[in-house]
Amino acid sequence: MELNNQLILGIESSCDDTAVAITRGFEVVASVINSQDVHEQFGGVVPEMASRSHIERIIPTLTEALKEAKLTLSEIDGIAFTQGPGLMGSLVVGTSFAKGLAMALNKPLVAVNHLHAHILSHFIQEEGMVAPVFPYLCLTVSGGHTQLVLVKSPMEMEILGKTIDDAAGEAFDKAGKMLGLPYPAGPIIDQLAENGNPNRFTFSIPKIAALDFSFSGLKTSILYFLKKATAENPLFIETQLFDLCASIQEAINTALIQKLKEAQKATGLSCIAISGGVSANQGLRNKLNEWKTQDPTLSFHVTHKKYCTDNAAMIAVTGNFLFETGSFATQKVAANARLPF
Ligand code: KG4
Ligand code: ZN
Repeated sequence: MELNNQLILGIESSCDDTAVAITRGFEVVASVINSQDVHEQFGGVVPEMASRSHIERIIPTLTEALKEAKLTLSEIDGIAFTQGPGLMGSLVVGTSFAKGLAMALNKPLVAVNHLHAHILSHFIQEEGMVAPVFPYLCLTVSGGHTQLVLVKSPMEMEILGKTIDDAAGEAFDKAGKMLGLPYPAGPIIDQLAENGNPNRFTFSIPKIAALDFSFSGLKTSILYFLKKATAENPLFIETQLFDLCASIQEAINTALIQKLKEAQKATGLSCIAISGGVSANQGLRNKLNEWKTQDPTLSFHVTHKKYCTDNAAMIAVTGNFLFETGSFATQKVAANARLPF
């Protein structure tokens, strides 16, 4: 991938992370993520609190990013921000801030689709990471989305399949809540699963037609299983936590890999990527490694763990692609919670 050296300021505020990054081409010069901890006590993101928290954090986050990059605002070549999809109140904060900055600094502005940014996060330059080659197949697994995408170019993407109910990250978080783990439970389940037996308990995930996914049945099956087990032994969760986490993780990852394999077969693509928060999961990464040993002709791409969950470097890098094609936004651009893919 050819590089140019423009400095892009990326702003991400779609959910509960206030993030600002500065990239030069595809290289990250600074990346600051201020995760909001106010939601932890509620077991999920409270939209109204998220937008208020973005307002408080956005200027300090920008200041920290500029300091980290040793740059001033006047040196920035352009501004990229998340237009959607996401929480409306949260998106409005980042969008208004980006528009205000672009106007005050007289810099070009680009509007980024958050999901495209997860998919293009593979182009963030990091030591030891190899970017995929177009066209590639990407499985995006985040807290709000689960989709299989044919990525023809940075601007041409086609959804091949998606979840018909819960997202994979949501499945991790809801299962974790039932186990008494704090939000977001995905990374904690990942850690605890390391010491557990993935084949100890069986949780079935319904088979869905074509390349779509379904995870809502999983929570019901976990709920009934835990109800019965804790009625017999009130200490069941506490004493079996490692095996429970490993087995739940195994069920989710098996469903994801199964569909990814079907999509690979259907498209014949040999370049495969995973992105989004759940792509940080070690169990999922291990499954990709197993697949690689079974079929060495395929190439697999994962983003560095720090860029799997929401960040602004992926917004800036996607902005870099948009700048190259001249896809600029005007001051009329508005946040869109349901921004089409
Ligand atoms: O991409 P992301 O930061 O935000 C959205 O765009 O939704 O994804 C957040 C989701 C959460 O559900 C979180 O529990 C999950 O990603 N997650 C993980 C891991 N790290 C984050 N799930 C499983 N294993 C992980 N290591
Ligand atoms: Zn995300």
